[in-house]
Amino acid sequence: MPQPKFAHESLVTMTEMVLPNDTNTLNNLMGGRLLHWMDICAAISAQKHSNRVVVTASVDNVSFSEPIKLGNIVMMQAKVTRAFNSSMEVNIEVWAEDIPAGTRVSTNRAFYTFVAVDQNGRPIEVPPVTPETETEKELFASALRRRQLRLVLAGRMKPHDAKELKALFGEM
Ligand SMILES: CC(C)(COP(=O)(O)OP(=O)(O)OC[C@H]1O[C@@H](n2cnc3c(N)ncnc32)[C@H](O)[C@@H]1OP(=O)(O)O)[C@@H](O)C(=O)NCCC(=O)NCCS
Repeated sequence: MPQPKFAHESLVTMTEMVLPNDTNTLNNLMGGRLLHWMDICAAISAQKHSNRVVVTASVDNVSFSEPIKLGNIVMMQAKVTRAFNSSMEVNIEVWAEDIPAGTRVSTNRAFYTFVAVDQNGRPIEVPPVTPETETEKELFASALRRRQLRLVLAGRMKPHDAKELKALFGEM
């Protein structure tokens, strides 16, 4: 098994400016463009952790709570929360900054799952994650439940086998 790596080793910060070609008719950033940027930032984080080529396997529910306006600066931060066999969960957070106004608001958060693949596109083992901070430890622990939920929703796991997830809701 590859040597464990610290969660902070996969930290990636990415910054973009919202230009006219990125916006909808209301002059707000298009959701699809934001998802594209988030995918790149999170993929770099998964690559840093695994030192492998990675593919996006899934994206958990992303909500768009605040519009991001033309001219805003979009700041993204991604970090691997936990690695399983070939897959890694990446937590990504997004903020919008209006530099002239001096404001910064949290706009989005999502969990991406990436799978490391070999030269033939086949899944390959990745290093385990060693969490250090309290937040990293919480995200590491809860990653198992999120994995079970997304695998059940994808039809890749029977609800009966999702033990940690079931425990969250009590016996059903
Ligand atoms: C992701 C992919 C490599 C999985 O291949 P597979 O043959 O199903 O491989 P496996 O069943 O061995 O699963 C490999 C890992 O993927 C994970 N996985 C597969 N589908 C998943 C899903 N929908 N959500 C989360 N994880 C998933 C499995 O849990 C497993 O993780 P683990 O090794 O840590 O236990 C394959 O489906 C693929 O290449 N998909 C296309 C990826 C892509 O092109 N992304 C860009 C989209 S445009």
